Amino acid sequence: MPQDYTIEQMISAKRISARIEELAREIEATYAGTDKLVVVGLLRGSFVFIADLVRELDLPVEVDFLEASSYGDAMESSREVRILKDLRGEIGGRDVLVVEDIVDTGHTLHHVTNLLRSRSPARLETIALLDKPTRREVDVRATWTGFEIPDAFVVGYGIDYAQRNRNLPFIGAVQITGG
Ligand code: IMP
Repeated sequence: MPQDYTIEQMISAKRISARIEELAREIEATYAGTDKLVVVGLLRGSFVFIADLVRELDLPVEVDFLEASSYGDAMESSREVRILKDLRGEIGGRDVLVVEDIVDTGHTLHHVTNLLRSRSPARLETIALLDKPTRREVDVRATWTGFEIPDAFVVGYGIDYAQRNRNLPFIGAVQITGG
């Protein structure tokens, strides 16, 4: 059971959707003329973001998912990244966009991009909805970032605390109150 906590809104649903529109225009410009973009969502935190992002993209897209182990039910990164579910499709020679919810220590994005690069995609870019640059342990940066945020534990818009609060339409900061 997680401790008792409250959630304070940090980024509204309206700001998120406005930012996704901007990011989609940049992605369209980068991948203009692509045959078919493979958009790879990192489960589970990116499922809401990827759903909104692909619907905003005026490009031929294919969607695939990859699951890497992360926090489990804790608030601390395990640092050891394991692939729990691999892609269904081949990405060799393809244009790939990896969609991550948050870049925190950077271990997940670092590990996943190394793995996917070893499969020789034609182009590999990354997008993260949120970035906590002050938490970084590995030198990695997403090609596109939605919002830089301070070192807070956040939930909502697909992101969980012990599997809860993924269904909030906004991003909120968790404040532990006791328990
Ligand atoms: P990293 O490997 O430390 O960069 O962590 C990346 C993953 O940890 C993210 O994809 C999230 O699943 C999880 N994570 C990082 N920060 C938070 C947070 O504030 N709330 C919930 N999950 C988080």
